[in-house]
Amino acid sequence: MKVAVTFPIPEAAKVLLDEMFECRVWESDVPIPQDTLASWLAEVQGVLTTLTCPLGEEVLTGAQNLKVISTVSVGVDHIDIDFAKRQGIALGHTPGVLTDSTADLAVGLMLAVGRRMAEGDALVRAGAWSDGWKPNLLLGTDLSGSTVGLIGMGPIGQAVAKRLKGFGCHVLAWNRTPREVAGVEFTDLETLLSNADIVSLHTALTDDTRGMISRERLGLMKDQAMLINTARGGIVDEVALVEALATGRLRAGLDVYAEEPLPLDSVFRSLPGCVLLPHVGSATERTRRAMFELALANLVAGMQDEPLPAAL
Ligand code: GLV
Repeated sequence: MKVAVTFPIPEAAKVLLDEMFECRVWESDVPIPQDTLASWLAEVQGVLTTLTCPLGEEVLTGAQNLKVISTVSVGVDHIDIDFAKRQGIALGHTPGVLTDSTADLAVGLMLAVGRRMAEGDALVRAGAWSDGWKPNLLLGTDLSGSTVGLIGMGPIGQAVAKRLKGFGCHVLAWNRTPREVAGVEFTDLETLLSNADIVSLHTALTDDTRGMISRERLGLMKDQAMLINTARGGIVDEVALVEALATGRLRAGLDVYAEEPLPLDSVFRSLPGCVLLPHVGSATERTRRAMFELALANLVAGMQDEPLPAAL
């Protein structure tokens, strides 16, 4: 049976795949062109992929033998799920195993923005730290004791809440379907946005959440409040966010963007008050290993017409 791998796969995973399937691997860091992908998919029973590879109706239409799509990501907004399901294709992703790493990074961004870590690092490296300790050097804001609003209370939102309790934060939360989480106060979106010192996003990108943090909703946030996004860029109206950052009204810690990689001419790169990371929420050795293991298990199960360990 044949498998297509749409990205340069780590050697250890490739060895395992080769033992079981005839594999075709896209070896370049430039994303696989859609027409190449379509022609590969026409010939395989399984595909191992990542979030950089859109799998829409156009490439899936000709994938007549495809039994399983396994993505090395928890997010599945790059896949036309409805169409794949109509085609009878099983879908696997990697929830759970990246929860802690992503929650750690979200809290890390809260600290990095609040305590101006990137600015401090740049100052020291530039040799511009000339006066030693100063009473007013790089004054920031505390995470301890702040009010943090979490939008989306799935496993990652809950893991962030757990960490924030250790910082003595007052945690507000909003979730599409109401939940009860000890020590967390659930509110409507508007109340959350207008009361939080920090707003952190933990929802999936879907038709319902695209653009959810709109200009109007950003306008509800307190002056100097901080937006943390380790979810998906498309959830936020980035044009409105850029404006709010440019005037210094809001601050932000961003790991994700509507367009990735962030274009070289993106205004984000020149804005004050924000820390920018290159989509590394799950990027630890341990978590990435676990993601690959789960994605391979999904792929193998799908190829054998068995239930996927982490099906969508
Ligand atoms: C990362 O963004 C993922 O969806 O796994």
